[in-house]
Amino acid sequence: MVHISVITTATSTAVSIAVSLASALTLVSAHPNIHLASSSSSGHGPHALEKRAPAAGPSCSTTYTPVAAGQYPAIDCVPFIQDPQVQTWLKLVDFSKTPVFPPSQKGVCPTDKTTIPQDQCWWTCQKCDAPDDITSCPATGTWGLTFDDGPSPDSPRLYDNLLQHNQKATLFIVGSRAISFPATLKRAYNEGHQIAIHTWSHPSMTSLTNEQIVAELKWTEKAIFDTIGVTPIYWRPPFGDVDARVRNIATQLGLKTSIWTQDFDTNDWNIPAGVATPQSVVDTFKGWLTKIPSMPHGFIVLEHDLFPEEVNVSINGVLPVAYATKGLLMQPIAQCLNDGKPYREGAGTFKLLPGGGGSGLNGTSTDNKNSATGLGGVLAGQAVLVASALTCLVSFAM
Ligand SMILES: *[C@@H]1O[C@H](CO)[C@@H](O)[C@H](O)[C@H]1NC(C)=O
Ligand SMILES: *[C@@H]1O[C@H](CO)[C@@H](O)[C@H](O)[C@H]1NC(C)=O
Ligand SMILES: [Zn+2]
Repeated sequence: MVHISVITTATSTAVSIAVSLASALTLVSAHPNIHLASSSSSGHGPHALEKRAPAAGPSCSTTYTPVAAGQYPAIDCVPFIQDPQVQTWLKLVDFSKTPVFPPSQKGVCPTDKTTIPQDQCWWTCQKCDAPDDITSCPATGTWGLTFDDGPSPDSPRLYDNLLQHNQKATLFIVGSRAISFPATLKRAYNEGHQIAIHTWSHPSMTSLTNEQIVAELKWTEKAIFDTIGVTPIYWRPPFGDVDARVRNIATQLGLKTSIWTQDFDTNDWNIPAGVATPQSVVDTFKGWLTKIPSMPHGFIVLEHDLFPEEVNVSINGVLPVAYATKGLLMQPIAQCLNDGKPYREGAGTFKLLPGGGGSGLNGTSTDNKNSATGLGGVLAGQAVLVASALTCLVSFAM
């Protein structure tokens, strides 16, 4: 029985990969302006596929009109820098300290990546992490649980699931969504999730001017502050698209750049686009479980709660497997970094649990009932199963 089920799984994985590749290619040829993620699964790159913004693009006005008092810039459009509010924010940054690199074309890498200066440290094209980038949780077996692009009409279903499991997460909030769904953002904050910044209109940040970068970050900060009364310190660049210039401006604004662990992209954002399936996302996730115990540190996963498909695969696919995996410790990023003050004003509703980052693997943390048994032991058990299944496959082939 075990043998048969393993063979079935292997086959269906192969099939779903084949299907997703085929549909990706169909999509690309049907829409030549859509480009696939650059070579690796961690690209998070096809901007057209990952349209996070209903009104983005051509519908954004090119004529400046001032933002009225108490109002916000047009949603899903890069804010105008002429605005007096933005002009005030620009004084917070000393641009003479900002490294000079030309803005990218929508975050797309040049054909010859060797032309990019090494010190640009452009995540998208050079896979470069800067020393201060947050890219993983320190303790092996610990998962920095993050959801991007909300709040959305589907976010409450995710929050319900997290609440049922007493599970907190880091939520990277798009400013345009925050003003559209303020009650949802308030709920997330009141339930103790770590609220963080994910820009105003979800652009490729390397494509913007220095001043636009300030406007994107500060308007989001303001929208969040106006809604929940605290100012997040953590931010995540959309698509992970950040370089030394963008980092410098964010740092001068007091923000910590948080990406995700290379190759720990669930690709859930590709389900709405028809390029991934819920099954392929869950299979990707299960694949990580085998390498997590031997990693020298924990990891941060990219997931989203903008589209219903993304929330569905989390609450019906990934999270149930994660909750059931003994020793796997899911935490907001601030928790795994042992940071009790993820807001400029301090802790807010965020409660740093004793044990700090803890360790899922060794079961030393106190905040997760799954931590009693080490992940290592569980996975060692799985390895035995896989080994016997492989033996079986071989004997089948013969
Ligand atoms: C887990 O415990 C073992 C043995 O005590 C130790 O060698 C290892 O470094 C610990 N791992 C973590 C991630 O704390
Ligand atoms: C998501 O799940 C809900 C509830 O099970 C279902 O009604 C809905 O059709 C699903 N949506 C998508 C896009 O899969
Ligand atoms: Zn995003």
